[in-house]
Amino acid sequence: MKEKRIKAPRGMADLFFDDAVLRQRLENTARDLFDLYGFSEIRTPILEETALFTRSIGDATDIVSKEMFSFTDRGERNLSLRPEGTAPVVRSYIENDLGKKAGLCKLYYAGPMFRSERPQAGRLRQFYQLGVEVIGSASPYADAEVMILMMELLQKLGLDGAELKLNSLGCADDKEKFNRLLKKELSGQKSALCKDCQARFDKNILRIFDCKNESCKRLLRAAPDMLEHICGGCRDHFDKVKEALSRQKVGFTVDPRLVRGLDYYTQTAFEVTHKNLGSQNAVGAGGRYDKLVRELGGPDAPACGFAVGLDRIALALDENKKAAVKAAIKVFVVPLGGEAQAKGFSILQELRKQGIAAEMDYDARSLKAQMRRADKSGADYAVIIGEDELKKGAVIIRNMKDKSQRELGFGQITDSIKGL
Ligand code: HAM
Repeated sequence: MKEKRIKAPRGMADLFFDDAVLRQRLENTARDLFDLYGFSEIRTPILEETALFTRSIGDATDIVSKEMFSFTDRGERNLSLRPEGTAPVVRSYIENDLGKKAGLCKLYYAGPMFRSERPQAGRLRQFYQLGVEVIGSASPYADAEVMILMMELLQKLGLDGAELKLNSLGCADDKEKFNRLLKKELSGQKSALCKDCQARFDKNILRIFDCKNESCKRLLRAAPDMLEHICGGCRDHFDKVKEALSRQKVGFTVDPRLVRGLDYYTQTAFEVTHKNLGSQNAVGAGGRYDKLVRELGGPDAPACGFAVGLDRIALALDENKKAAVKAAIKVFVVPLGGEAQAKGFSILQELRKQGIAAEMDYDARSLKAQMRRADKSGADYAVIIGEDELKKGAVIIRNMKDKSQRELGFGQITDSIKGL
């Protein structure tokens, strides 16, 4: 009987060939841009103590209550695969006293995150985020910088037409007051809300604004707007953020109903969507979280940041842009016969030493078979070494696009190709 094949876990994808190349390019472009904006990389563990996420993201959120991969390890420790990057960065900031070492901390990260959601297009259980966190400044310019960087990043990654939506949730006091107000306003209608919203009503009422249920949406039309209930200081902060964005010509719309699925936000919250995506249309999101460092046992350090989802960016990119990101083999060496193979192997290594990306078929197959592989590799040139050429100390160099060929002496190969 044939053994049952083992598959990758549900909602977790293998990335290879062009998909992996695309991801590398996206990440490299991001790293260059993060350098330009003065961010340095932080790498935190994939696993953290579960309490880190319950205390930061919030135990009434979907992420913590339903979506974490949590387990008890052999030492009876309760651990979770990280569902996001902000809480681990803050944990590390506190644990390593980064505020004292660096003052204002501008950190970026790239890596996999894990949420056990129902998989669908653009929603995976292992997905990849690129994110930044600015820890140690309450300035509206920090919020603006983070959003400007995110929009520039999306554009640099080839994603035009991303839309930025923005709101202010107010400070911790404002949030609490607004929660109370909302509860009062909706108390008579609680039984008309969907089951999920009834649970949200008690635990995390702001999340009601995220409900997709039509009857809940209708009920909420008459509900008060958060933005109208924030204090003077928060309003001033929000105005300055908007002004800084406008001055830099970053387009945005204010959405007074925008709430986030994580509890740690105060003041600015934002989300970026793209029309090429279906129901999972957020390519990135973020905001300010002034109380989180303190709540996790650190100093008073106001902070803000964003994360974009690489899987969704890859999905939203149009096919032309993806096609442009092919693996870049420049030369394919095609030896014909055993002796030519040894010479071909030397030429191959010489090309690589000179920084020219090159490949060769090891199996000394027919000219036709090798040329087919050369074609598939996307190489610009084939260097063909037949027996006649070998005797003459020469090769044929073939332009794979226009099919023109010419003969070159062994000594001229690398210099000629470099000059092409
Ligand atoms: P988030 O909105 O939960 O925020 O996630 C940010 C982005 O990660 C989303 O906009 C989406 O592109 C991607 N993403 C989330 N879940 C999935 C999934 N299941 N499959 C594919 N992509 C997904 C955060 O994680 C915050 N830590 C952002 C932040 C940074 N706030 C402040 N600093």
